[in-house]
Amino acid sequence: MNEKIQRWDNLYGAVQDYPAPNSDLIRYRALLPKQGLALDVACGLGADALYLAQQGFDVLAWDASSVAIKRLQKEAKAQDISISTSCFEITPSVFKRGRFDLVYVHRYLDRDIFPAIIESLKPGGVLFYQTFTQSTAAECSPTIGPTNKAYRLATNELLSLCSTLTIKVFLEGFSADPKTNQIQARAQALIVAAKPGAS
Ligand SMILES: C[S@@+](CC[C@H](N)C(=O)[O-])C[C@H]1O[C@@H](n2cnc3c(N)ncnc32)[C@H](O)[C@@H]1O
Repeated sequence: MNEKIQRWDNLYGAVQDYPAPNSDLIRYRALLPKQGLALDVACGLGADALYLAQQGFDVLAWDASSVAIKRLQKEAKAQDISISTSCFEITPSVFKRGRFDLVYVHRYLDRDIFPAIIESLKPGGVLFYQTFTQSTAAECSPTIGPTNKAYRLATNELLSLCSTLTIKVFLEGFSADPKTNQIQARAQALIVAAKPGAS
């Protein structure tokens, strides 16, 4: 096993409380297909995969950390949720063309698999992708997410990676607090985008 995955195993082994699902996934749920086959890429402990299964999706959850996958299996069993987990290093060749109604990626960036992710969407299928950016890293204190810039999106990069898709939501850069109008740097960019074609 490589060192990077060993670090994730160690980290997940030390996590006490099972996390809550991503609040942005819940916020934009209505923009996703009602149901169908969903993939959570690099799912980690899989709280978002469990949320998608609770929402009626058939869910595949992939991650290279065996510790995370075992914890997810345990949690799914405890909650009586059916989910298909797999533990392996994700490469472009594991994606099949036109397979998924939804591909979900949160806090993971591997540019080599991006074209394969888009290929794996059915026509009308939706990509939800959210991860850390380079541009606002310095403005978020303390810095959240990877310190290595290679694992953070460049400005507009997510938009250009999704240039063949129809954008439903794109958030990057800054946001204003609705109560105070105070401007805050976003640590992450988020896109919800659909593959053109039948829904
Ligand atoms: C920051 S965590 C994100 C986990 C989850 N998506 C979340 O938001 O909580 C990154 C995950 O990527 C996984 N990972 C890293 N490299 C991988 C690879 N080559 N193949 C599969 N999973 C990988 C790690 O094991 C880790 O669970």
